[in-house]
Formats: sequence, C-alpha cells, structure tokens
Amino acid sequence: PKALVLVGGYGTRLRPLTLTVPKPIIDFANRPMIVHQIEALKEAGCDEVVLAINYRPQVMMDFLKEWEEKLNIKITCSQEPEPMGTAGPLALARDILYNDTNTPFFVLNSDVVCEYPMKEMLERHLATGAEATILVTKVSDPSKYGVVVMDEDLKVERFVEKPQTFVGDKINAGIYCLSPSILNRIEPRPTSIEKEVFPAVAADGKLYAMALEGYWMDVGQPKDYLTGLALHLDSLRQKRPEQLADGDGIQGNAIIDPTAKIGKDCLIGPNVAIGKFCEIGDGVRLSNCVILNRVTIKNFSLIKDSIIGWSSKIGSWCRIEHKAVIGEDVFVKDEVQLNGAIVLPHKDIKESIMEPGTII
Ligand code: GDD
Ligand code: MG
Repeated sequence: PKALVLVGGYGTRLRPLTLTVPKPIIDFANRPMIVHQIEALKEAGCDEVVLAINYRPQVMMDFLKEWEEKLNIKITCSQEPEPMGTAGPLALARDILYNDTNTPFFVLNSDVVCEYPMKEMLERHLATGAEATILVTKVSDPSKYGVVVMDEDLKVERFVEKPQTFVGDKINAGIYCLSPSILNRIEPRPTSIEKEVFPAVAADGKLYAMALEGYWMDVGQPKDYLTGLALHLDSLRQKRPEQLADGDGIQGNAIIDPTAKIGKDCLIGPNVAIGKFCEIGDGVRLSNCVILNRVTIKNFSLIKDSIIGWSSKIGSWCRIEHKAVIGEDVFVKDEVQLNGAIVLPHKDIKESIMEPGTII
C-alpha cells in the first residue's frame, strides 16, 4: 500500500525549533519524528510514502534522501500551491493513491506518536468493509481533538472536530486507513477531512474506528512533546530496553546517542534524550528534557522540563527549567537561570530570565 503524511504548516507551536527545521524532522527520542512513522509504514509493507507539504519542501526532501536509502522505501513530495487543509492534499495526490484494485492507503498526521499499529489497521479495515478506518484513543481533555462516538461494533456514529461541549472522550488519533473510493468525495481545494469528509462517511455508515493500544501523544507543542517522550521511553523500557541508557548516574529512562560524551558524576533521567555529538560536563543534572544534536553543557548545570536546540552552548552552573525552549546555536553564559524562557536561534544570553514565557 501507499501512504500519505500530512506534513503541512509552519509548526508555530514548536517555535523556536521550527525556525530552524520543519517540525517532522525534529528529533523525537533521537530520530526525526517522521522517521518513526516511515519505519512503521515500511514495516507494514508500504512501498511509497507521499509527503504533503506546503512549506519549505526542499529542506525536507534533501533531508529524507538519506532515509529513503536506509529504509529502502520511496519517499515523494506533493507540494501544495496553497495550504489545502487535511483533505485537499489527498485529492492532489490522487494519481498516486487511487487504484482500481481497491487497495487501501494510509494517511497520518505528522505530529502524532504511538506504536503505529498499521498492519492491524489494514486487516481491520478490510474485515469491516469500511470506507475509512480511524485510530482512536482516550484522552482526559477531548476538546482539543476530533471526538469519535461509536457503537459496540466500533462503527462511528458521529465525528465532531474540536467540540465545544462534552461529546465523549474517545478521540481521533490522526491515523487513517482509507479506501480509494473516499477520493471521490474530496476535491483539490482547502478542505478539512475532519469537518467535511468524516462526518459524511459516518452518515453513510462507512466510518469505523480501531482502538489504539499503548501510548499516544500529539507532540506539536513543547509540553506535549516532553510528555510524549516520557511515554515513548516507557514503551521502549517494555519492548526494547537495550535502546535505553544504563549505568552510573542514570535514573529511570534515558536515551543517549553513542557519540555523546558524558562527564563524571552526572545525574541523568528520568525521561531524557541526548542527541549526537553532545558534550555534557561533570556534575550535570538532566531530567525530563531533550538535548538536541551537538549541544555543549558545562559543569554543574541543571536542565529540567526543557528543550535545548542544536549546537547551543550552555555554561557552568546554569539552571534551565519550567518548559524553557532554547533555539539553535544559543549561547548561555555561566550561572544564568532561564525559567520557562523561549529563546530564539543564535542569541547570546548573559542574564537570567525569571518570567516564564518570555520570548527573547
Ligand atoms: N499538507 C498539509 N496542508 N498538511 C496540513 C495542513 C495543510 O494545509 N494543515 C494541517 N496539516 C497537517 C499538520 O501538519 C498535522 O500533521 C496534521 O495535518 C493535523 O493538523 P494539526 O494542525 O496538527 O491539527 P490538530 O492537532 O489541531 O487536530 C488534528 O489532529 C488531532 C490529533 O492530534 C485532527 O485530525 C484531530 O481530529 C485529531 O484529534
Ligand atoms: Mg496536531
């Protein structure tokens, strides 16, 4: 089967990181977000992944060349002349997705992480004879998502995007298995699959759900990205513990690239990812944080609940916490505290910032 990933927009909620690279190629647990998805698609037998992009397509495609070879899967790009929403891009890529053999295809939102049960979805889709099968998960605050109301056979009765009042707590996880006939409902103009297509398919009794097992997170904003990392590392602990760091100074789950250098007497974890070529000094304390590639952190600094962008240099005795997000190539002077600050790329920070949410 083929697959289409909705790569879309500017990723504003993950700024300043998305000022440097498009959201899907930001590392999540030391691999680009979209690579986790492409790997799962390849494993489910997909031979081609179409990326629906409306912003900086060349950066993405150049970057994914390497993965196209590594994962042995065709990766193509379908560029939109203007943002086409979540359904329009399917119509644009119709030539690739449509076929006479009625072979279903997959569609994924690029910002969702889970264990991607693609094979099971395909089987279930074929078994129910659905036109669309959507993956659903349960959340405590459904108002930010598309809510799905189903009967006991998991046939969807209603699909309500971002409901204002409580409709239910099972939500659209942003991963679909679709039959080619659904393309006959979609035109190549800006359209929302959630608001325009799914309600119509549900009304025809052809929309089915499949319950997702395990964790799920939309990692499109820093807080959720950090929560998603913790859930992902928990799942690795269960399924592939050899990928997690162990040894002195590691507390709980952490993933550390083999090229990273870690000093003496550090305390690392829980829920930490340290990327390629990072240099961590002595006595550094890291918890619930992401250190992207090529970051240097000098001795005795503490980083907690925060994300440090590529190639940034953090001095000694610094304290960075409360959902601070530091862009690419930032320099933070010794002893500086950053309390929930958002720091744009290439800044030189010489003084502490104590007011959370300050953008500098
Ligand atoms: N190519 C393209 N063009 N992609 C787009 C466009 C567009 O114009 N607009 C959005 N996208 C992509 C986004 O990049 C993302 O991967 C996906 O479509 C969904 O858009 P979001 O903006 O992240 O939507 P959301 O998170 O508010 O809601 C969606 O995801 C929820 C799960 O996380 C909906 O599908 C909800 O129903 C769902 O519950
Ligand atoms: Mg989203």
